[in-house]
Amino acid sequence: MSEKIDDRCEFWTPENIYLYEDAIDKIIRYIKKIDEHVFEKSGNHIVRHTENRLKSSESIEEKLRRKGKTIAISDANKVINDLAGVRVICFDSRQVYTLADEIRKNKKLTVIKEKDYILHPKENGYQSYHMIIEISGVRVELQIRTILMDAWSSLETVLVYKKKDIPPKEIIEKIHKFSKWSKKMDQMVEEMLEMKG
Ligand code: GTP
Ligand code: MG
Repeated sequence: MSEKIDDRCEFWTPENIYLYEDAIDKIIRYIKKIDEHVFEKSGNHIVRHTENRLKSSESIEEKLRRKGKTIAISDANKVINDLAGVRVICFDSRQVYTLADEIRKNKKLTVIKEKDYILHPKENGYQSYHMIIEISGVRVELQIRTILMDAWSSLETVLVYKKKDIPPKEIIEKIHKFSKWSKKMDQMVEEMLEMKG
């Protein structure tokens, strides 16, 4: 077991909240600008909605333990990339890549890591495009995915991902089936949007 984390040492000081919320606001502003720009050119929006959150102190502590870190919460920014998180829900996966491409071009931020779980889904079926972005001196985790990928992962989060116990086999099987069907439906969405033009 790792060293006891000092519970008195909270990461979310007013300064840190300001820094990370400011980074989130900037990223969301860039995303809205990209969406408006694409809309002007094509007549179609690519962003359906965005969500954001600061990681709770409990989750920070839990993650540090999981990673076997013996450091204090005050040092969480050294090892945790998702202290601030932004999620963007697009209509189809082509829009996910369009958005990722445009974000990469933005000179006011640096993309330090990318993971393509759409091209390479996780074994459980998880799909999403992840970017770790550095902006104004802090890192933000950006998750971009389609409505259906988000439906799957929202469900899987409550049924499996955030559960301490291993869920029943029947639930795991249904989640797999859900993932297969939603991949098919995602293709349909793409086809329909293509037809719409
Ligand atoms: P963490 O240390 O857990 O953040 O993983 P990582 O650094 O390897 O990053 P990864 O890109 O794999 O996952 C980051 C985030 O993606 C998680 O905090 C979740 O929000 C989401 N995620 C990853 N895998 C799954 C999954 O299997 N199911 C669900 N529902 N969400 C996932
Ligand atoms: Mg996370």
